[in-house]
Amino acid sequence: MSKMIGIKTTACMLFLTTFLLWGWPISQAGSETEKTYVGSQTCQECHETEYENFKTYAKKAHSYEHIKVMRKGLAEAEFRTCFECHTTGYKKPGGFRSEHETPHVKDCGCEVCHGPGSLHVETNEPEDIKGSLTAKDCDVCHSADRVAAFDYKPLIHGGAH
Ligand code: HEC
Ligand code: HEC
Ligand code: HEC
Ligand code: HEC
Repeated sequence: MSKMIGIKTTACMLFLTTFLLWGWPISQAGSETEKTYVGSQTCQECHETEYENFKTYAKKAHSYEHIKVMRKGLAEAEFRTCFECHTTGYKKPGGFRSEHETPHVKDCGCEVCHGPGSLHVETNEPEDIKGSLTAKDCDVCHSADRVAAFDYKPLIHGGAH
C-alpha cells in the first residue's frame, strides 16, 4: 500500500516538475500579459529604415542622456520620477530598472509607442504588436498639462520615424 502511494507521489512530483519546467512557460507564452520589453536594437534587423530614422532624428533616442545631465541637482527619488517617461517600460516586465542592469531600454525606444515587442519578435505577426496608434498612446507621457492644445495629426506622426 505504502509502495503504491510512493509511486503515485513520485509520478505526481514528476508531473509537477514537468509542468513547472515546460507546461507553465509554454501555456503563458501566448497570453497578453506575458509580452515583455526587448529594446529597439532587437527591431533593427527587420525594420532597418524605421530604426535608422528613429536613431537619427527622434529626441526620444537620447531621452536618458537628457535626464542624466540634470541628475546632479536632483535627489535620487526625484531622479527616479523621470524614468516613467524618459525610459522604456519602467517597472514593467522586461522594462527599465537601472542604467547598469538594463542599458538596452534606458532611452525611450520603439516600444514606448508600439508596446512590448517580445511576442511579435517571436512570431513576426503584425497583430502581435500595436500598429495603429491613437493619441491615448502618447498621453501617458505627453500629458494634457504638457501639451496644452493637443494637436492630434501632426503629433501622432511626429517624433517617430
Ligand atoms: C514613455 C513616454 C512617452 C510616450 C508613450 C510617447 N512619448 Fe514622445 N517623448 C517622450 C519624451 C521623454 C520626449 C523627450 C525626449 C527628450 O528630448 O529627452 C518625447 C519627445 C517627443 C517629441 C519631440 C520631438 C522629437 O524629435 O522627438 C515628439 C514629436 C513626440 N515625442 C511624439 C510622440 C507621439 C506622437 C507619441 C505617441 C504616438 C509619443 N510621443 C509617445 C516620451 C514619450
Ligand atoms: C510625465 C512624463 C514626464 C516626466 C515624469 C518627465 N518628463 Fe521630461 N519630458 C517629457 C516629454 C513628453 C518631453 C518632451 C517635451 C514636452 O512635450 O514637454 C520632455 C522633455 C524633457 C527635456 C527636454 C529635452 C530636450 O529635448 O532637450 C528634459 C531636459 C527633461 N524632459 C528632463 C526631465 C527630468 C530631469 C525629469 C525628472 C525630474 C523629467 N524630464 C520627467 C515627459 C516627462
Ligand atoms: C513616437 C511614437 C513611435 C515610436 C517611438 C516608434 N514608432 Fe513606429 N509608428 C508610429 C506611428 C504613429 C506609426 C504609423 C501608424 C499609423 O499609420 O497608424 C508607426 C508605424 C510603424 C511601422 C509600420 C510601417 C510604417 O512605417 O508605417 C513599423 C514597422 C514601425 N512603426 C516600426 C517602428 C520601430 C522599429 C521603431 C523603433 C526604431 C518605432 N516604430 C518607433 C509611432 C512610433
Ligand atoms: C524577425 C523580424 C522582425 C523583428 C525582429 C521585428 N519585426 Fe516588426 N514586423 C515584422 C514583419 C514580417 C511585419 C509585417 C510586415 C508587413 O506586413 O508588411 C512586421 C510589422 C510590424 C509593425 C506593423 C504592424 C501593423 O499592424 O501593421 C510594427 C509596428 C512593428 N513590426 C514593430 C516592431 C517592433 C517595435 C519591433 C521590435 C520590438 C519589431 N517590429 C521587430 C518582422 C519583425
